[in-house]
Amino acid sequence: MSQREHHIYDVVGIGFGPSNLSLAIALREHWTSGQDGEVSALFLERQSSFGWHRNMLLPSATMQISFLKDLVTFRNPTSSYSFVAFLHASGRLPQFVNNQDFFPTREEFHQYLEWAQARVADRVRYGAEVTSIRLVPGATPEEDRLRLEIEDGEHPAGRVIETRNVVVSTGLVPSMPEGTERDERVWHSSEFLDRYRRTDPSALRRVAVVGAGQSAAEITRFLYDELPHAEVYSVIPSYGYSVADDTPFANQIFDPAAVDDYYFGTDETREAFWRYHRNTNYSVVDDEVIRDLYRRAYDDEVRGTKRLQFLNLTRVTGVKRVGAETRVSLQVGPDAEVRELDCDALVCATGYKGMEPTGLLGALEGYCVRDAAGRYRIERDYRVVTDPELRCGIYLQGGTEHSHGLTSSLLSNIAVRSGEIADSIVARRAGRIAAGPVAVPAEVGGDLL
Ligand code: FDA
Ligand code: NAP
Repeated sequence: MSQREHHIYDVVGIGFGPSNLSLAIALREHWTSGQDGEVSALFLERQSSFGWHRNMLLPSATMQISFLKDLVTFRNPTSSYSFVAFLHASGRLPQFVNNQDFFPTREEFHQYLEWAQARVADRVRYGAEVTSIRLVPGATPEEDRLRLEIEDGEHPAGRVIETRNVVVSTGLVPSMPEGTERDERVWHSSEFLDRYRRTDPSALRRVAVVGAGQSAAEITRFLYDELPHAEVYSVIPSYGYSVADDTPFANQIFDPAAVDDYYFGTDETREAFWRYHRNTNYSVVDDEVIRDLYRRAYDDEVRGTKRLQFLNLTRVTGVKRVGAETRVSLQVGPDAEVRELDCDALVCATGYKGMEPTGLLGALEGYCVRDAAGRYRIERDYRVVTDPELRCGIYLQGGTEHSHGLTSSLLSNIAVRSGEIADSIVARRAGRIAAGPVAVPAEVGGDLL
């Protein structure tokens, strides 16, 4: 039988990337401000230690947001968990300022996230994968308790905990081209460094990278630099890389106020956000990386070597194995001419799908309200709209692009969003305490952590 904790948490966060880390800090700061009692919170992360897209921590890759859009500053500019506080603690504040750069490397931002998570680690369990969320068996929805099943490697039959609210923040889901399966020589960008480090570089004489987004451009640059003996093919669906628009007016769509404009706007307003501003984030590349790649291609021409090849207006339609080779099927140009490319490794930097909590929610899905397009209806405070009898809160950090706009999958607004979710949980908790105790049936016991 699963081990069950007796404690009922006010909130359990599923996944501990930057979004829920920011929430853990918001809850901690709320408590230490002395306004109310402590909200009992626990965060569960399936990785064995903190890691933020580790397989894309390529040398010289930089952040795509200002360092001031850290875990806290837009919510609480005086927080001790800011990037500036981290720099100060690391003894690097003057040097950082001398750099005169708003965009730290991803490596440095990762160090910041690790520093911040260490300060709330008493609320986190690593190596703990949540496999389902459901109502407590035999309980009515009004009892406001959810049961989470967890696999943590320590308890063969699993572990069970209960909570009044969940905040699901399990991240983006890697997307492969149709008809393409991953294997030891066909990788998605989300597993890139791990796969690359386990491969003998001398076996990589011809490599191909699919996609025209930031991941593809960074990996192409990395492979070209790391494998001087190899030909590097870049398979791009466009004519050339398009630049990510991060100019000031366009950047306003990532402001906290833009969430209200999107959420309370009409369908036409929301459509305009996408039509005009998709190029701030999707299938686009930072100017500096585009220029780096062009420079390398030009230097090739000067040397007459042409190691870097761009297959433009080209899409991957399938992959098969032929001996040791990976044979990639390509559709080229406006006439969709079919061609093949043999390579030693194929990296699909083909993007991600939005966060999808349906699998975790299981039967609870029946209580969640969907719109005419089949998407979850979400309250402004990021709570899934549910049948009124379900009193537990199911909050989403991610997967809310259709309701809250482009910041849903990004870091830009996490400080403010986490603050809004923390406020909502605190207010609901206060309402429950004011309403008095609810009778809870006795349960079979387990161990108390
Ligand atoms: P994130 O994906 O970071 O974390 C989710 C966590 O949930 C993971 O740690 C996962 O292991 C865990 N998990 C999943 N299922 C679980 C389960 N069932 N049980 C327990 N744990 C589970 N955005 C931006 O604004 N600026 C930037 O510079 C970048 N840079 C960037 C680089 C790269 C390479 C990518 C792919 C993406 C970005 N992004 C970005 C966008 C990115 O979505 C964002 O930076 C954050 O990762 C969002 O944080 P989350 O915590 O929401 O998800
Ligand atoms: P992305 O922007 O969605 O780009 C995916 C690319 O793959 C698109 O160009 C897409 O073209 C192409 N593609 C998909 N299927 C294809 C096929 N069958 N054949 C050829 N091309 C195909 O994904 P991403 O580059 O991984 O970026 C995702 C997020 O991570 C973004 O927010 C990005 O900013 C972020 N990121 C940040 C950093 C950093 O901080 N340094 C690094 C990497 C990524 P179509 O659009 O035509 O389908």
